[in-house]
Amino acid sequence: MSKSDQDDVPLVNQLVDQMLDQTPRERAPKIHERFRGEHPIVVEGLENRFGEQVVHQNLALEVKRGEILGVVGGSGTGKSVLMRSIIGLQTPSAGDIEVFGRSITQARPDEEIGVRNRWGVLFQGGALFSTLTVGENVEVPLKQFYPELSAQMREEIARYKVILSGLPEEAACKYPSELSGGMRKRAGLARALALDPELLFLDEPTAGLDPIGAAAFDRLTRELKETLGLTVFLITHDLDTLYAICDRVAVLADKQVIAVGTIPELLETDHPWINEYFNGPRGRAALASQERGQKTGGGK
Ligand SMILES: Nc1ncnc2c1ncn2[C@@H]1O[C@H](COP(=O)(O)OP(=O)(O)OP(=O)(O)O)[C@@H](O)[C@H]1O
Ligand SMILES: [Mg+2]
Repeated sequence: MSKSDQDDVPLVNQLVDQMLDQTPRERAPKIHERFRGEHPIVVEGLENRFGEQVVHQNLALEVKRGEILGVVGGSGTGKSVLMRSIIGLQTPSAGDIEVFGRSITQARPDEEIGVRNRWGVLFQGGALFSTLTVGENVEVPLKQFYPELSAQMREEIARYKVILSGLPEEAACKYPSELSGGMRKRAGLARALALDPELLFLDEPTAGLDPIGAAAFDRLTRELKETLGLTVFLITHDLDTLYAICDRVAVLADKQVIAVGTIPELLETDHPWINEYFNGPRGRAALASQERGQKTGGGK
């Protein structure tokens, strides 16, 4: 396991522990309708602090249903902390977060259960359990939320998610250490898709992949979003990803979301960080590559 994989394991364990604190009856998901509102995620007045360090202050963000929202910002601006707050792994010091129209910040643990099975998360680094095969990793959330499923049914669902994520079927029997970096990302994605989520959180999904692998992962994200009707919260430093698949981009700086919109809209804001980010050499290269892709029938 890479260092970043190990960094994420406590988070996943925390998630599992929270689930296992519940009795099976409490864990069993309630039947729910798909969310039909306009904004599956609404964040208002969010504040996160670690001791003296204030990471977010009065942060607001709305994510539209059915969009891929890219989340960008310098390293340490709090993108991962924002994601963890939304999925309930980080208790904010102030503010309110609604997911599917229900408050995450004020919910009792038993109320949270109703929304937890409606999202999937690919943590920065993957965070696969190294002692479990890929298939068994995908089965973990199935066991937590659907304890009544037979082992055979669970295996079949896991195999289907592995294929859906673009891995060969045999990958289900492999351990994470036997996979390439790109395959590990896909395995993490398979686990994130285990419960047929409506919301998908991806933290740096293409980091560490070669450009071809990264472009293939982008296409897969877009295809899954379109076929499964997902809303995607996608943290990335990858400018190609932003141009190729994101419908809108939210920019984190100065403890807040300072702008959110399409890339042309962001460029109109004239904010120095945004200008430098998109108009710097890497930004221009990503734009040129996107334009070339469109001419040759690639792109979105
Ligand atoms: N559990 C924690 N305890 C203390 N400080 C933390 C904790 N988690 C995050 N931080 C701090 O919060 C800030 C934001 O961290 P975060 O991981 O959200 O950054 P990021 O924007 O995701 O950066 P990167 O692009 O490098 O992944 C950092 O200064 C980090 O050190
Ligand atoms: Mg991060």
